[in-house]
Amino acid sequence: MNKENLIKENDKITTALKKVSGSFGKITCVVDNKKKLLGVITAGDIRRAILAGNDSKDSIKKIYNKNVSYIFENEIANKKFVRSKFSNKEINQSIFYVPVVDENKKVKNILTTERIVELMENKNFRQKKKKKLPKVLIVGGAGYIGSVLCKKLLKKNYTVKIVDKVLYDKNVISNFIKNKNFSFDKADICDLNTQINVIRDIDVVVFLAEIVGDPACNARPEDALKTNYLSISSMAQLCSHLGISKFIYTSSCSVYGLDKQNKLLTEKSDLNPISHYARMKIMSEKALLSNKNDIFKPTIFRLGTVFGPSLRNRFDLVVNTMAKNAYYDKKINLHGGEQWRPNIHVEDVAEGIIASIKSSQKKVGNKIFNLSSDMSNFKIKDIAFAAKKIFKKSKINIVKSMVDPRNYRVSSKKFFYSSGFKAKKTINKAYKDFEKIFRNNKNFNPDKKIFSNIKVLSDK
Ligand SMILES: NC(=O)c1ccc[n+]([C@@H]2O[C@H](COP(=O)([O-])OP(=O)(O)OC[C@H]3O[C@@H](n4cnc5c(N)ncnc54)[C@H](O)[C@@H]3O)[C@@H](O)[C@H]2O)c1
Repeated sequence: MNKENLIKENDKITTALKKVSGSFGKITCVVDNKKKLLGVITAGDIRRAILAGNDSKDSIKKIYNKNVSYIFENEIANKKFVRSKFSNKEINQSIFYVPVVDENKKVKNILTTERIVELMENKNFRQKKKKKLPKVLIVGGAGYIGSVLCKKLLKKNYTVKIVDKVLYDKNVISNFIKNKNFSFDKADICDLNTQINVIRDIDVVVFLAEIVGDPACNARPEDALKTNYLSISSMAQLCSHLGISKFIYTSSCSVYGLDKQNKLLTEKSDLNPISHYARMKIMSEKALLSNKNDIFKPTIFRLGTVFGPSLRNRFDLVVNTMAKNAYYDKKINLHGGEQWRPNIHVEDVAEGIIASIKSSQKKVGNKIFNLSSDMSNFKIKDIAFAAKKIFKKSKINIVKSMVDPRNYRVSSKKFFYSSGFKAKKTINKAYKDFEKIFRNNKNFNPDKKIFSNIKVLSDK
C-alpha cells in the first residue's frame, strides 16, 4: 500500500492537504500504527474544515470521516460481500474510491467503484481504468475563450462549473446546461460570498473573468480595477489558503506594450505596459505569485491577441474585426499597420489551458508562459492583406491615425518545452471559417452590441 494514501489521525491538516493535492477525488485512509483503517479524508473535507475556521496546524482527528465504506479483500476474491461495509447500491452513488482491508482491517488497497465492478463481474483484469479527472471552475466561462474551453473540457469528460455574471451573450450557457457534468452560477466574482461558494468542491481554477481589452478598461476603470485586480488577488489568497493546487490565469502579451526594437520577446524580456489593462495584468501576475506556497502553484499565461470563431463571438479583436468588415463592408480599415502582434486561435488557447491542466505542477506550477502561435507573429498590415486574400471583394482602406501603438513579437517556446503544446491553427483558417459562418447565416448581425465588449460596457 502506497504510503501517500495513508495518514494518521494526529497528523496535521497541512499534511493531509499535501497528500490529496493532485489526486483528484481520491481518498486518503486514516490508519492507526498497525495500518488499521479508522476512516478516510478527502480534499472536500479539508476545505470545509478550513472554511469552518480550523487551523491548518490542527490535527485531522476532528474532521475525518469515521463512518466509511470498506471491503474485505477475500470477499472480492469470493465475489460475495458478507461482512464488507459496502452495498452494490453504492456503486452508482457518489463514492468513487473504497478502501480494501484484510481480516484485521489493515488497509491493503484503495479501489475505484468501477474497478470493484470489474473484479466482481470477472471482467478483463487488464481493462484500462478510466482516470478520474479534476473538477474545473471557469471564472468568466461564458466569455469568448471560456465558452470554447468549457465545450472542449465537457467533451473530454471533465466536470465543469462556470461562474459568470454574463455581461454579454445570454445564450452561451444554453449550449452546456443539459450536460450532467456541467453547472452554472450566475454571479459576480468580485463578491467574496461568490468566491467562497463556488470554490468548495473544485480542483482546478481557470480565471478568465475580466473587463477585457484597453478600450473596455478605459471605459470602466473602477470595474476593471475590481475585477481584473482585486477579485483575482482575493481569489488567489482564498485558493492558497484552501490548498487548491492549480490556478490558471490568462494574462496578456500587452504587458510587453511597446517594444521599439522588434525583438522576439520571451518571458524574461522587459515589461513596458502602456495601458490600465496591461498594468493591472502585471499587478495580478504579482498578486498570484506572491500567494504561492507548497501547494498553491499558479500558472500564468500571457496570451497573444486571440482570433477565430467562438460560442461567444467577439468582433472587437483585430482578426475578427477585419473578417467582419471585409465581408459586410467590403472594406478593411488599416490603422498604421507596421505594429507587430502575436496571435493565437481561440481553440489553441483552450487546448493550451487543457495542456496545463494535464501537466505536472513541477512543469507548469509557479511559472509564467507566453501562449501564442510562433507562426503567427504578424504586422497588422499583414493581417489585413491576409484578409483581402480570402475576402476577395474587399479593399484595404488606409487610415492615417494609429489607434493602438502596441508593438511586440513573442516566442512561446518555453511552454512548448514544458508541456509539448504548440498552437496549430492559422489566421487563414479563421478567415475561411468566418466567411462560411457569415455566408451560411443570412440573419447573422455581427454589429450586435453583444459581440463587442466596449459597445456593451460604454452603455452600462
Ligand atoms: N481575447 C483576447 O484577445 C485576449 C488576449 C489576451 C488576454 N486575454 C485574457 O483572457 C481572458 C478572457 O478573455 P475573453 O476574450 O474570453 O473575454 P470576454 O470578455 O469574452 O470574457 C470575460 C467573461 O468574464 C465575465 N465577467 C466579467 N466580469 C465579471 C465578474 N465581475 N464576475 C463574473 N464574470 C465576469 C464576462 O461576463 C465574460 O463572460 C481575460 O482575462 C483576458 O484579459 C484575452
